[in-house]
Amino acid sequence: MKKLPMFALLLAAGATAAAANDSTGNVTVEHLGTNNTLVRIKPDNRFLILPVQESNEDAAVNVLVDGKLDRTIYVRLAKTRVDYNVPFDLTPYKGHDVILNIITSQNRSSVREAREDAFWKNITTSDTFDTTNRETYRPSFHHTPLYGWMNDPNGMVYKDGLWHLYYQWNPYGSKWQNMTWGHSSSSDLIHWNHHQAAIEPNGLGTVFSGSCVLDPANSAGFGENAIVALYTSAATSQIQSLAHSSDNGNTFEIYPGNPVITLESEARDPNMFLNKETNEWNLLLAHALDHEMLIFSSPDLRNWTLKSAFGKGLGAQDGVWECPDLFKLPVEGSDMEKWMLICNINPGGPFGGSGTQYFIGDFDGTTFTPDTDADGNVVTKWMDYGKDNYATVSWSDAPDSRRTVIGWMSNWQYAAEVPTSQFRSANTLPREVGLFKGDDGQIYASSSPSPELVALRGRTTLKKKSYTAGKSGKSFPLPTENGGICELLLTIDPRKASDVTLTLSNAAGNKTVMTYNPAAATFSFDRRESGLTDFSQDFPAVTTAPAFNNGGKLSLRIFIDKSSIEVFGNDGKFAMTNLVFPTTPYTTLTVAANGGNARIENQTFYSLTPVQ
Ligand code: FRU
Repeated sequence: MKKLPMFALLLAAGATAAAANDSTGNVTVEHLGTNNTLVRIKPDNRFLILPVQESNEDAAVNVLVDGKLDRTIYVRLAKTRVDYNVPFDLTPYKGHDVILNIITSQNRSSVREAREDAFWKNITTSDTFDTTNRETYRPSFHHTPLYGWMNDPNGMVYKDGLWHLYYQWNPYGSKWQNMTWGHSSSSDLIHWNHHQAAIEPNGLGTVFSGSCVLDPANSAGFGENAIVALYTSAATSQIQSLAHSSDNGNTFEIYPGNPVITLESEARDPNMFLNKETNEWNLLLAHALDHEMLIFSSPDLRNWTLKSAFGKGLGAQDGVWECPDLFKLPVEGSDMEKWMLICNINPGGPFGGSGTQYFIGDFDGTTFTPDTDADGNVVTKWMDYGKDNYATVSWSDAPDSRRTVIGWMSNWQYAAEVPTSQFRSANTLPREVGLFKGDDGQIYASSSPSPELVALRGRTTLKKKSYTAGKSGKSFPLPTENGGICELLLTIDPRKASDVTLTLSNAAGNKTVMTYNPAAATFSFDRRESGLTDFSQDFPAVTTAPAFNNGGKLSLRIFIDKSSIEVFGNDGKFAMTNLVFPTTPYTTLTVAANGGNARIENQTFYSLTPVQ
C-alpha cells in the first residue's frame, strides 16, 4: 500500500485537526462523536465564557483538571443562537491542564451537525464579565443575583453589622440547575455586595436550602462565633449536611462527618436556632411529601434527635411542605408572646402555585401546639396575599430583637418563563414581622417594610393632604425618573363608596387595578392587563387579601420596581407581592370610587433611588 502522508490519514479517518478556535488561542475544540466533544482550555484568563441557549437541553460538562474529574456542571449549550453568556471561573485552575469533556444530548445524526453548534464558535476566555443592569425588567432596588437563576433565600444570618443573604443559585444559566449557595451581604438591607459562591455541590449532591446560626459558645467545636450552616445535600435522596465558616461567611468548610441527618423519605430545608428557653438547639426539617415539619433538638449542632412532627392534616396541605422557620415574638398591645411557625407550600398557595403559610402557637422545645379557633380548628393563615412571595424565612441573630424576613419574589408556576434573560428572579423587599390580634380573636403576623427602606426615597413628586374621589376618578402623574421606580402612600376613607379603585396605567394601555371593598373588607389586585402576561397561563390573575380592620379606612404603602409591585396595608397587617411586566413603565395613578364619594388622605409619591 502506498504510504499516505499523515494529514491524509487523519482526513480519511474523519478526524478534525484540533486547532485553537477562538481569538484568544486559549480554547481548542475536538469533536469525538455526535454527542461528545473535548474542549482544551488554557486557563490564562480569569473566566471561561460559556454561551447559553435556554431552549436547548442541558449538556453535562465534566471539568477535568490534570486528568482528574473536578466537577460536573449542567449547561444549556447554545445550538442555533446565543441567548446570553455565563462565566466559569478559571482562577482556581491557573497553571493546570483543563479539559472539558462535554456530553451533549443524542439528537444529532452526524459529527458535522455537532460542529455547527453556536457554542463551539463562541466559547472563549476573558478577564472580565459584564454584569451591568441593562434588562428592562431587572429590578432597580431589589436584591437579585448578578447573573443566573435564583430561587429561595436561605441561610440568612446577621454578624458584625452585616446581613448575610445566601440563596439558591444556578451560576451557569437562568433556569433551575446546579444548586449552589450564592452569597450577598449588606450593611443596610438595600445595597448588596455580591460574593463568590459560598457552598458548591460535592459528592453528596447539590446544595439545597438550609440555615445558618452563630455559635458563640462553640457548642459544635468549629470555633467560637463560627457561622454554622446546615443544608440539604440533594442527589437521588435528600440528606442533611453541616458546614462552617470562620471567615465571616465568605467560605465554608464542609464537615467530613456528613451527612448528619438521614431519613428514609424526602426531607429538606433544615432551619435551626438556639432555643433560649431550653438552652438547646432546635431544628425544623420539612418532611416535604408527608406535609409535616419534623422537630429535632441537639446539644452540639452535630447530633440531632427527632422529638416530634407537626402539621399532618393542618393548614393548607395541597402541595409539598418546604422551607420552615420557627421563632417567638411579642403580641402587639399585650404582654403575651407566641411562637410563629412558617411553612412554605408549593403548589397549594392561596392563588395557585407557591405560597407562605404560618401557624401561631406554643413551643416547649419538643412539640409545637397550634392555636385553634372557638371550634377547635386551626385557621389557615398566609404571610402574603400575592402570587409572588415564596420560601420566606428569617435572619438568624438579627439585632435589636428584630425578626426580619425576605422571600423569593416569584412562583414555581412560571418562575422559569418570566421575560428576563441574564438573570431570573429577585427577592422581595426585606420585611419586619410582628404579631397582632385580629377582630376574630386570632393572632396574625404583620409584615412591614424594613425601616432601612426609607433611605431609598428621592424626590417627593406629589403631596396631597386630602381630596374627594368619585366615579369619574382623579388622575395623578407618577414619578418618571429612574425608570419610574417609586413608593406611593395614601389612606382611603371609603365613606359611602362601595369600592375604591387605584389604577396604574401607561400609554401602551397596560393597567394594574387595585380595589378596596370596604363592606367585604378586602383588597384585590388585578394584573390580567398589566403588560406582558402571556408567557404562562398561570400568570394573569386577581389576588385578594383580607384588609384587616382599621376603623374602615385602608392605609397603603406601595413599592413599584421595574417588574414588581409590593403593597403593605394597614401598617403591614397584610402584604401583597405581585410581579408585573408593563411594556413601558406605568405613568399614571387614577383613583376612583363607586356608589358614593371616597376621601383620600395623605397621598404622597416618592421617586426612589436605584441601587443597581
Ligand atoms: C423551595 C425548594 C426547596 C429546595 C430548593 C431547591 O423552593 O424546592 O425545598 O431546598 O427549592 O432549590
